[in-house]
Amino acid sequence: MPRIIYVNGRYLAYGAAMVHAEDRGFQFGDGIYEVIEVRDGALIDATRHLDRLARSLGEIAMEMPMPRVAFAHVLREVVRRNRVTDGTVYLQITRGTRPRDFLFPGPEVRQTVVVVARPASRAAADARAATGIAVKTLADPRWARCDIKTVMLLPASLAKEAARAEGAKEAWFVDEAGHVTEGASSNAWIVDAAGRLRTRPTDEAILRGVTRTTLIDVISRLGLELLEEPFTIAEAKAAREAFITAATNVVTPVIAIDGVRIGDGVPGPVSRRLRAAFHDVVERSTNEPVLARKC
Ligand code: PDD
Repeated sequence: MPRIIYVNGRYLAYGAAMVHAEDRGFQFGDGIYEVIEVRDGALIDATRHLDRLARSLGEIAMEMPMPRVAFAHVLREVVRRNRVTDGTVYLQITRGTRPRDFLFPGPEVRQTVVVVARPASRAAADARAATGIAVKTLADPRWARCDIKTVMLLPASLAKEAARAEGAKEAWFVDEAGHVTEGASSNAWIVDAAGRLRTRPTDEAILRGVTRTTLIDVISRLGLELLEEPFTIAEAKAAREAFITAATNVVTPVIAIDGVRIGDGVPGPVSRRLRAAFHDVVERSTNEPVLARKC
């Protein structure tokens, strides 16, 4: 077990090495990591690992948290303080801590930097290599399971940044067939040219939004027509109305897609009606019934 872990400029005892609950690495997977072999006390291929680190950081608009020479010193110091001869040194850099928001924080938020060194038995690794290992094949799932509400939200965060750069509040993802899947943090809907509500059926390409499910109840109570069918960007742009749903925004009308005005360019009557009716249908939980049951 490591004894000393580097966290944000300090070499801390294992039990005191903490990162904040609102760290973006924890909440969004918004960070980069590297693992470097340590052999006979030396870092192996550190230059190449630091090159890849710099590249990975650059790809998600982050910078090296300190000059390379200083970083290499920290890595060696963590290895030294943990007396690791053979093993690995692991480093992780996240975009820092601040109240949860998909958009990147400003430069006032400092990155989180963690370095952990861990011993490993060279004899055990050599024994494994002498025997050889088995592998199993499976479809590459990285990351095609949007139906799972994982905290691996970096792609969503990057998409929201790209949307913000164009003056948009949400990003809509499009699959290989040209169909809209869903928003970066919401489900996507249209009222198509024929006046029917349309949203993609639930599959592995979208999250089964709770707001979406409740809205389907609302739609059926109001006797409106719903097609759970995928729609293309062209259909969305030609739609009478478009909107998104999520617990953070209920039903929120979309008035432009890629700069193209939707309908009259103002929230449409169906979206407004659904938004107004939504809270008539929802389940409400308060403390009262829970307390009443306990008594
Ligand atoms: N996001 N699709 C994605 C990718 C989402 O992240 C969300 C919600 C939804 C809508 O799900 P629901 O109706 O259950 O909120 C669909 C939350 C609000 C978020 O990450 O902030």
